[in-house]
Amino acid sequence: MSNANEKRQAGEAAIRYVEDGAIVGVGTGSTVAYFIDALADLKDRIQGAVSSSEQSTAHLKRLGIPVLDLNATGSLTLYVDGADECDPHKRLIKGGGAALTREKIVAEASDKFVCIIDSSKKVDVLGKFPLPIEVIPMARSLIGREIVKRGGNPVWRDGVVTDNGNWIIDVHGWQIVDPVSLENDLNQIPGIVSVGLFARRAADVVLVGDKLL
Ligand code: 5RP
Repeated sequence: MSNANEKRQAGEAAIRYVEDGAIVGVGTGSTVAYFIDALADLKDRIQGAVSSSEQSTAHLKRLGIPVLDLNATGSLTLYVDGADECDPHKRLIKGGGAALTREKIVAEASDKFVCIIDSSKKVDVLGKFPLPIEVIPMARSLIGREIVKRGGNPVWRDGVVTDNGNWIIDVHGWQIVDPVSLENDLNQIPGIVSVGLFARRAADVVLVGDKLL
């Protein structure tokens, strides 16, 4: 069961990684919402934020934090985001909130990825949480068949359209012992926009509540 108190602790603890004058990469979700609330107290000491979703953009703007375009900022020093699962190597499943593609872009553009979770997200092996995959709509069935060939059970997240106008398939039934290989393999299938595995680019720091993993 997820723990709101630990999510708040993690969101607030991540503030210690924010340096004066920084442009901060900001993820998406209920844990990140605590981080955004805490970031608002420092808004006069940072240049602004690069957001990973329309949801976080709205939250940032509501609190008066400038939202900047990644194409204009260049690379970032810090990215803060939550996760759906985290293994002992800081490899993650993300995308429960359907924001995985922009999250992956901002994570890739950042020197340090600080992941904020509650203890319910810690696992030994990734895959109990169904793996989200963002797909181009016309490729949904093709990708579903490719997933079945690989032993997964694809379920279309019916009714959900991502910020990029695409669809989400959640893959059940995979025990992901080699997440880097699976991420690389899935990235080759035409029509897959992003895989919710953050293994090639794992987190650098994981805060479970206010404690380091
Ligand atoms: C959104 C994500 C979130 O980081 C993930 O779903 C965790 O969310 P929460 O902090 O609400 O538990 O990947 O796409």
